[in-house]
Amino acid sequence: MGKNIAVIGAQFGDEGKGKIIDFLAEDADVVARFNGGNNAGHTIIVNDKTTILHIIPSGILHKGKINIIGNGVVVDPKALIKEIEELRGKGVKVTPDNLILSENAHVILEKHIKEDKEKNKHLGTTARGIGPAYTDKTSRSGTRVIDYVSEDKELKPFVKNTTLLINNFIEKNKKVLFEGAQGSLLDIDFGTYPYVTSSNSTAGGICTGLGIGPKQVKVAIGIAKAYITRVGSGPMPTELDDEIGKQIQKTGNEFGATTGRARRCGWFDALIGKYAAMVNGLDTIALTKLDVLSGLEKIKICVGYKHKGKIIKNFTTDIDVLENCEPIYEELPGWKEDISSITKYDDLPDNAKKYIKRIEELMGIPACIVSIGPERNQTLILKKEFLF
Ligand code: GDP
Ligand code: IMO
Ligand code: MG
Repeated sequence: MGKNIAVIGAQFGDEGKGKIIDFLAEDADVVARFNGGNNAGHTIIVNDKTTILHIIPSGILHKGKINIIGNGVVVDPKALIKEIEELRGKGVKVTPDNLILSENAHVILEKHIKEDKEKNKHLGTTARGIGPAYTDKTSRSGTRVIDYVSEDKELKPFVKNTTLLINNFIEKNKKVLFEGAQGSLLDIDFGTYPYVTSSNSTAGGICTGLGIGPKQVKVAIGIAKAYITRVGSGPMPTELDDEIGKQIQKTGNEFGATTGRARRCGWFDALIGKYAAMVNGLDTIALTKLDVLSGLEKIKICVGYKHKGKIIKNFTTDIDVLENCEPIYEELPGWKEDISSITKYDDLPDNAKKYIKRIEELMGIPACIVSIGPERNQTLILKKEFLF
């Protein structure tokens, strides 16, 4: 039986999914997106060369991999063509042999983008037309790719029945990577509604967004930053409005890969981590951007919320609680060393190891990967059994 791995954002998006997918894609056969659209911005850095993918799966830089845009994705045809052309301009092969678009994906039309810009400012959306396109899909007045491409010759060669295709790959024991977009806390059902995106960005979205059975997802990896960030509106209890927040933003280069907006930064929230582990059935975590915390005297982890005198130990989607609670922190000692060129977990400073261990304990799952820089090779493997 082939091993299929899901990569899911465990926070508010931008956890480093693109980097981890690209890293894992080396050993995969197929990479498939199942939700969202070009609201995503997945950054891959190889030998100092940066690629930001919005709609094309993050396996595209590897030769010989199949990249699927599933039925659960909403597709802006112009943005997709632009991305294909940009990649080709950089010498990346993008043809109907390695990029396949589902005929059942819905199309983002000009009117959706206009509506998103006009009506959704208060939510701080990416203004890419995502919400309005999904609204038309569920109200049964949307346009599917299959209907759209009869007029659009350029994308037609890429369009196939991806449901049949992906199930055939799975049957043949090909190794499939499911690439989540956004993050668990932006999920339409499990996120901080209404400050969410309009799709299921949690693992449940894989089945409906690609047309596979739940038993085909063998491993679920949650991607979490060693701290937390959020872009756009909505509550984030551990948000830092001080010098440390600014330092993390600067060191972590926390500016949006899609809109360029500054990302709000805060301490790692273990309630969110534990909640993400539960709603996705996570087996393991890939902890990213640990290098960004180097040099901090003390590092805090949120282990509870205090709201109106009550202590809350489990994450809640009650916006009033999230906006008005006071985080309860545990404090851990930091480390001074630059860890970005370390090649083995064993060589990490003891305090960095203790920090990872505490996050594992609080989330109730082990870490399989620790990322210590944006480059493909700045990646430490802790537990091979969760990988291909
Ligand atoms: P995604 O949306 O989850 O794919 O994440 P983004 O690409 O939007 O944002 C993650 C940012 O962090 C990108 O600029 C990555 O290049 C960068 N990044 C990923 N992993 C690491 C890491 O371990 N350390 C550092 N310093 N940067 C990282
Ligand atoms: P990746 O895949 C971070 C946020 C927007 C806004 C909310 C709704 O790169 O992690 P939308 O345009 O989806 O209707 O916006 O969701 N958002 C993201 N934040 N990373 C993303 O994707 C995001 N996609 C949407 O900022 O708050
Ligand atoms: Mg991103």
